[in-house]
Amino acid sequence: MSSSSANKVPVVVFDSPQAAAKALAAEFSELIRSRASEGKTAVLGLATGSTPLPFYAELIRLHKEEELSFQNVVTFNLDEYAGLPREHKESYWHFMHSNLFDHVDILAENIHLPSGTVTEAEIPTHCAEYEQAIVDAGGLDFQILGIGRTGHIGFNEPGSPKNSLTRAIELDQITREDAAPAFDGIENVPTSAITMGCGTILTARKIVLMAWGENKAAIVKEAVQGPVNDIVSASFLQEHDDARFFLDTPAASAL
Ligand code: F6R
Repeated sequence: MSSSSANKVPVVVFDSPQAAAKALAAEFSELIRSRASEGKTAVLGLATGSTPLPFYAELIRLHKEEELSFQNVVTFNLDEYAGLPREHKESYWHFMHSNLFDHVDILAENIHLPSGTVTEAEIPTHCAEYEQAIVDAGGLDFQILGIGRTGHIGFNEPGSPKNSLTRAIELDQITREDAAPAFDGIENVPTSAITMGCGTILTARKIVLMAWGENKAAIVKEAVQGPVNDIVSASFLQEHDDARFFLDTPAASAL
């Protein structure tokens, strides 16, 4: 645990993203196995982007080498780009299947992501149904997060209220610039997304936000040590009773 007394949320610093991913995957594995032994499901909130990749690689290894089954796992992803069909190479549906779901024994009906192709008129109903599906599944047991350079969790860009729910959101210019290389140019990056709200995320019983690399150090410092406000939505985690930050040394370098 990082010892800085200025930290307002627990921080754990690891030598590498791989070491952090291994520790987090061990916690997930324990939850999944203990629920399976009780005949119950484990409800996991998942993220996309480059940050969780070592974590998903470790979950796949646990499945292939240590018999971790995902048959009792139910997942809800944080977000999806508006306008992207599932088969688009940058859709989060595609990302999750190629980086995790296609390599483990999760049941297709237990996978949930917001849709990128609902019409504008359908969005409010779609979002309300997403919220209800989380409640019907028993709530989120464990949510993982990355952090954007705007301080977003999910796609809760600056100005997202603490009690916000799943909804459509316009993406910040910085977020779109960060996504531009993957889309071969900012003109191809969607301008909006559907995201779980800050309020949705904060209902999770346990939360771990992961961040790697020096380019996250400044925003991590704001989220961990700064005031709690909607300018940095990750700062709301300071008010959750079981949220931790898992960082590598460069991401923790400003603390
Ligand atoms: C992804 C998500 C985002 C990312 C964040 C960091 O589902 O909701 O909040 O976690 O933008 O992205 P990376 O990991 O690519 O730096």
